[in-house]
Amino acid sequence: MTKLFTPIEFDNVQLKNRIVMSPMCMYSCVEQNGKITPFHETHYISRAVGQAGLIMTEATAVVPEGRISHEDLGIWNDSHIDGLKRLNEQIHSYGAKTGIQLAHAGRKARLDSDIFAPSALAFNDSSKTPAEMAKADIDYTIEAFKDAARRTKEAGFDIIEIHGAHGYLVNQFLSPLTNKRNDEYGGSKENRYRFLSQVIEAVKTIWSGPLFVRISIDEYDPNGNTLNDILFFAGQMKQQGVDLIDCSSGGVVPASIKRYPGYQLKRCETIKQEIPIATGAVGLITTGIQAEEILQNDRADLVLIGRALLRNPYWPKSAADELNETLPALNQYERGWK
Ligand SMILES: Cc1cc2nc3c(=O)[nH]c(=O)nc-3n(C[C@H](O)[C@H](O)[C@H](O)COP(=O)(O)O)c2cc1C
Repeated sequence: MTKLFTPIEFDNVQLKNRIVMSPMCMYSCVEQNGKITPFHETHYISRAVGQAGLIMTEATAVVPEGRISHEDLGIWNDSHIDGLKRLNEQIHSYGAKTGIQLAHAGRKARLDSDIFAPSALAFNDSSKTPAEMAKADIDYTIEAFKDAARRTKEAGFDIIEIHGAHGYLVNQFLSPLTNKRNDEYGGSKENRYRFLSQVIEAVKTIWSGPLFVRISIDEYDPNGNTLNDILFFAGQMKQQGVDLIDCSSGGVVPASIKRYPGYQLKRCETIKQEIPIATGAVGLITTGIQAEEILQNDRADLVLIGRALLRNPYWPKSAADELNETLPALNQYERGWK
């Protein structure tokens, strides 16, 4: 039995394999109301039919002003629950589990409305300057993550992932490049971690299921978070009961990134071994053999597949064929599966 197709459990939620559909914004809420559309149903359900073990939604905004674009998916209102619930029921009927990536874009929101961030610094020359968040804005945002966790539960998701990567709001608090605050939320790594810590705490008052956090493990800037800072954050998350750290990178400031297969793996492996805590590997993982190598060498516990799954919803079948693994087919697809 390959490790890629060996089930894994997080807090009583069993994934039938280690293949995760990586969160990917589709910017497809054409009515700009954050609600699930027929496109989202087709998009996510087809990857469940394709036998991914876990379907993670795209970044889903906890407040409307925390969207990257007006077309983002949202969970800031109870009216979002029904669509998400129907989506979950469908995905579950194909044997996959579901996760939602709870997100706030902070200064990277490309919206007409006012935007907010830990410090009043624009991402680049063409982006808006955000307003520095007052303590009341911070409290309101933490509450919004908590309300989103309640809606997540009501919608029937199995897993929550907090989006703490790619230079979005949580990452903006974590990074010394974007957090220039003088209060208890800025300065030392302990202070920069405070916002994420309080978000986790708030979510956990509602949510007892598996909790993942995606972070940027490298900011590709000499003045950004160091590996030691990242290990500190990971250690804190472990203490707070986070189940897995989804190890992505970049996006905090404009930077040139050398991308090659496994470019984010080294630090992912270090976090897994040093803390130790379960990790998810992501980034140019395109073959079953590559995924199996990562898992067998204990470099990560899950592999998240992004663009390869956009190209091929049946990526798990291709990976199984490569690894000489038998992947059960849907009854309807039996004749085409051999
Ligand atoms: C179209 C697209 C949208 C994305 N949106 C998100 C997102 O909503 N949240 C997130 O954490 N990462 C997002 N990402 C990053 C992916 O989850 C993944 O980390 C990245 O594409 C690298 O993996 P890959 O080489 O397998 O595609 C996005 C990537 C793509 C291609």
